[in-house]
Amino acid sequence: MGTENGHNAIVSIRGLRKTYDGKPPVRAVDGIDLDVHPGEIYGLLGPNGAGKTTTISICTTRALPTAGSVVIDNIDVVKHPSAARRSIGVVPQYNTLDRSCTIWENIHFHCLFFGFSRAEARARTQQLLDQFHLAEKANSYPAQLSGGLAQRVQIARAIAHRPKVLFLDEPSAGLDPQSRIAMWEIVQGLHREGITVVLTTHYMEEADELCNRLAIVDHGRILVEDTPAALKNSVGAQTIYELDLHEPVPDLQQKLGMLSGVTAVEDTPRGIRVLARTCDGLIGDIVSTAQSSGLRDMRVTEPTLETVFIRLTGRDLRE
Ligand SMILES: Nc1ncnc2c1ncn2[C@@H]1O[C@H](COP(=O)(O)OP(=O)(O)OP(=O)(O)O)[C@@H](O)[C@H]1O
Ligand SMILES: [Mg+2]
Repeated sequence: MGTENGHNAIVSIRGLRKTYDGKPPVRAVDGIDLDVHPGEIYGLLGPNGAGKTTTISICTTRALPTAGSVVIDNIDVVKHPSAARRSIGVVPQYNTLDRSCTIWENIHFHCLFFGFSRAEARARTQQLLDQFHLAEKANSYPAQLSGGLAQRVQIARAIAHRPKVLFLDEPSAGLDPQSRIAMWEIVQGLHREGITVVLTTHYMEEADELCNRLAIVDHGRILVEDTPAALKNSVGAQTIYELDLHEPVPDLQQKLGMLSGVTAVEDTPRGIRVLARTCDGLIGDIVSTAQSSGLRDMRVTEPTLETVFIRLTGRDLRE
């Protein structure tokens, strides 16, 4: 990877590191390089503590890096934080609406802060309330809103000054499934309008559904980066059989590996994983081969981003 910042990128991160002091020090971000293209929805997918929030905090001028650079819309965010903030919208991991202000005021004050005239700020606030179906809640206070509605207000506020890049840190954490889908539709709508979106998530379904490209991050580093489809294809199988076994059986791996259509057999903490090209007729062969070896349970799945993560780290995203 080069050290020059990417020419066509709207977000360009090079050699990014962040170490938190302490005993021992925590290397939260440990050498991240990435480019986000204009108009893309780009995801950082990773487990708790992977360094996602720290990366977003540096990109959005909330934290300073220990080393490395972030250039957004041709502005170095570390050297020129106030200028960079005009190009950036942020929805942080935790609700940061002002609890003492109404929904209308939360958006209106944001517009004023970014230099809108009073008339412009009023018009923009009204337009956003209409666009996000929040007009009825204009005079409500944040504490009166459901998690889904509060998240919608946070997104409306984040884009009020028309930033080029919207950062969403764990946008669906704590949302019920219906609100999560509504949030996805909002993000897809903004994407169609041309805004660039960078989001973090530890939900593989969310990364898969929303992102044009994503990086899987763990321990402050990028393990892989690609489109969701390419990452799933990289597993090299159409069907995956997860076998739970009572105890390890020495020659079972080898026997399963000889079945026709099987492309790989791997140890897992609970037993064995069989990767196969197709699902035709294989299940019977697998069960009969494994049954004498104390087969406890079996799950049949297709490769998901979770599979990609597990194969890279040996761990579950949710652990
Ligand atoms: N202010 C801080 N001081 C010390 N350590 C920190 C601080 N903020 C984060 N960390 C540590 O840095 C690492 C990365 O944390 P970060 O919040 O960036 O991860 P994350 O991927 O956003 O995780 P999560 O899924 O929990 O939101 C973790 O080990 C965390 O404990
Ligand atoms: Mg986080």
